Amino acid sequence: MTLTTPSSVNFGAVPDESGRFGPYGGKYVPETLMPALDELEEAYLNARNDQEFMAELAHLQHTYVGRPTPLSYARRLSEELGGAQIYLKREDLAHSGAHKINNALGQALLMKRKMGKTRIVAETGAGQHGVATATAAALLGIECIVYMGTVDMERQKPNVFRMQLLGTEVRSVDSGSQTLKDAINEAIRDWVTNVETTHYLLGSALGPHPYPAMVRDFQSIIGLECYRQMQDPAEGGPGRMPDAIVACVGGGSNAIGIFHPFLEEEGVRLIGVEAGGHGIEDGEHAARFADPERGRLGVLQGTKSYVLQDSDGQIALTHSISAGLDYASVGPEHAWLRDVGRSEYTYCTDRQTLEGFKALCELEGIIPALESAHAIGHVLELAPQMERDQVVLVNLSGRGDKDLGTVMQAFGEGSQ
Ligand SMILES: Cc1ncc(COP(=O)(O)O)c(C=O)c1O
Repeated sequence: MTLTTPSSVNFGAVPDESGRFGPYGGKYVPETLMPALDELEEAYLNARNDQEFMAELAHLQHTYVGRPTPLSYARRLSEELGGAQIYLKREDLAHSGAHKINNALGQALLMKRKMGKTRIVAETGAGQHGVATATAAALLGIECIVYMGTVDMERQKPNVFRMQLLGTEVRSVDSGSQTLKDAINEAIRDWVTNVETTHYLLGSALGPHPYPAMVRDFQSIIGLECYRQMQDPAEGGPGRMPDAIVACVGGGSNAIGIFHPFLEEEGVRLIGVEAGGHGIEDGEHAARFADPERGRLGVLQGTKSYVLQDSDGQIALTHSISAGLDYASVGPEHAWLRDVGRSEYTYCTDRQTLEGFKALCELEGIIPALESAHAIGHVLELAPQMERDQVVLVNLSGRGDKDLGTVMQAFGEGSQ
């Protein structure tokens, strides 16, 4: 629904002081957590204006994470599809294998330098946020506990072992659907109990204020780098702005990170791709915006946004081939950007995702994360509808090593 035209919207004005993006966002938490959120907000606002803190973070991003990540022209994929020229932002090449490290390192450093806490709890779905958090905790010498649903532990086994190698304790969660939502519940429970000593290192642009804005800001480095790289052929860019940017949307952090610096560029379409699972009709998906019956305004885990729910308002079970997109809600800023007509959302089924996965492997020599393969799956459809002199930029949010078991099973069962 378009309420306003982008030119009349002040993108810099959200969230407002109460943490709202229009009707979305806010702080829906128990009283006991309000002081912790206030403390976090104060620390973050302080850090943003602290040159020493920002310089230390920038130094680590460069010397430890390997930023800036490159921009790659996907020549063979572009030729095969015969339409727009496709460029890939290579977050798969960031240390620990995904964009998640940008936020994990930012929050861990914030906790270490600005808050008197000694322990981190986090949740993880695909395991990438857990690995990123375990990595940052090891680097900075912080105790770390990661909660993970047992279903996700099974399908992302290599990442469970990775976290353990990095010195993190992984606690299994076997309530509910045993996926990300349930892991978040447990992490919040731990946080409430140990709030004096513990920081909750949330992994997406979700949760109560200030998390959606803070995570967006830590992830905006992706879009800021792209803004420069796209315009500079020496940095691998086409020498112009993209016509469209495509990113997968779980909670929405890699998407908001690449979108945000381009919000004022009205000529750039911003396209988020949700998990279409087995398709919208049978309800086995995680496409919050695409399901008109079950995707409705609701509150989940501290924030108001679109939430997949049944007719009684109970949180619906979700399905996606990728653990990182398998979540019933979506970051509040995406819901707002969609309302004001600045970004658009579509979905990619498991089947299309596997096609995108295969295409990137065979034509570009890159094994993508299944989450990122959703964005590629959509580009298989989008690029041929565009002109050859147009440009699509895709956020390749992570690498696919963690998904080899799932993909082997899917291809073995003939689902391709
Ligand atoms: C590689 C990768 N991409 C994308 C996502 C989805 O998260 P977000 O929507 O916050 O970027 C995940 C989540 O685990 C992930 O591991």
